[in-house]
Amino acid sequence: MEKKFVVKGGNRLTGDIYVSGAKNAAVAIIPAVILSDGPCTLENVPKISDVSIGLKILEEMGASVDMVDDTTFRIDATGLRNSAVPYEMARKMRASYYFLGACLGKFRKAMASMPGGCPLGDRPIDMHLKAFETLGAHVDIVNGVVNVESDSLYGGHIYFDKVSVGATMNAVLAAAKADGLTIIENAAREPHVVDLANFLNSMGADIMGAGTDVIKIRGVGYLRGTTYSIVPDQIEAGTYMIAAAATKGDVTIHNVIPKHLESITAKLEKIGVKIEEFDDAVRVSTPNPLVKANVKTSPHPGFPTDMQPQIATLLTLVEGPSLVTETIWDSRFAYVEELRRMGANITIDGKVAIIEGTGKLRGAPVKACDLRAGAALIIAGLAAEGVTEIEDIHHIERGYEDMEKKLRGIGADIEKRYFPGEPVAKSC
Ligand code: UD1
Repeated sequence: MEKKFVVKGGNRLTGDIYVSGAKNAAVAIIPAVILSDGPCTLENVPKISDVSIGLKILEEMGASVDMVDDTTFRIDATGLRNSAVPYEMARKMRASYYFLGACLGKFRKAMASMPGGCPLGDRPIDMHLKAFETLGAHVDIVNGVVNVESDSLYGGHIYFDKVSVGATMNAVLAAAKADGLTIIENAAREPHVVDLANFLNSMGADIMGAGTDVIKIRGVGYLRGTTYSIVPDQIEAGTYMIAAAATKGDVTIHNVIPKHLESITAKLEKIGVKIEEFDDAVRVSTPNPLVKANVKTSPHPGFPTDMQPQIATLLTLVEGPSLVTETIWDSRFAYVEELRRMGANITIDGKVAIIEGTGKLRGAPVKACDLRAGAALIIAGLAAEGVTEIEDIHHIERGYEDMEKKLRGIGADIEKRYFPGEPVAKSC
């Protein structure tokens, strides 16, 4: 059966909503358990399909995975002897590349298919592989399968030409148990990079500087089992902040780290949204009319590319012209065609979306072409006049836990409907 979301727009969102653990941290920490020499308990694990795939990959490779409660898993990967990641599963998710770094660190070899994931344009992993080579590994790609192998994995000096979240985290995974000191320069600083380092350090790794652009890793021979709670999801929180603003609502978003939301908060305040920060919550309300603004994505601590479709959607609901510039991904405007079906006036000029905000959208049948595009279409549907039907919602379920239930809890009229058919891997 295929499924879709049916959203009846116009309800003002009010009340309290709770954010789950971060997808982009969980999909790295799950493979990182391979490095542990004892069983690990992971808490605050989000219930999303990318996490299910990661856990299934671990099980297929020989680890035992036990659900302790809804969001807690006990994983024992100590008996795991297999360094080959199941081919079809790895292709289903982008972040399967983290199994390469973790297996290389543990077994000194790894094999996985080139990763899948959201269609955002060219998504090479050359920098990941270069980092492995700097640590002494030999890399070979044959028929879409990556083989990484090393007789002795040793510390090295890695300089990334571009800031890459995945390459930074993969280098950290491979270096945690390598011999000697690894220095990563021009490292990514995202909260999930810090969370991975914190997880590894809680097992006895020696990683310093995560969250800055220089990370130093002194390899250790042994990593003990640990219990670790995954950081709250910055992008899920930001998505609900924008949903609240788009419906002129008043919503308190709980289980967040306000510091991680700074760039999103700053931009929303520019647009006229009122944001109050508490220890682990933010309250979003719109006492004043919203105004146009320009947005440019950049690596953390800049405005996240994973919030670009959502904020562009908000800007269609504000009168006047706004510019949204995407600097990370080549193809992150595919959702614009879907927003146009809902009455948005957006022109794309290379990396820039020129939004002529009209202040309103109208419901229409649309398709989610990737994860964050899908979230943006839900926001559009919540704010639009009439009914919006969103297909291909498997993209949304990769990264948002029970999104429709959480939104219903703050007053949204949204339901999931099933209909005959197969999910189609496609882009808009
Ligand atoms: C991660 C996030 C994704 C987010 C992105 C940027 C996960 C699972 N996904 O993706 O949601 O949009 O960070 O914040 O955490 N690049 C190369 N060569 C490489 C690697 C990357 O050229 O080897 C380029 C990419 O094409 C892109 C840029 O570097 O232009 C940033 O990519 P990167 O930060 O690596 O993204 P991901 O880790 O794949």
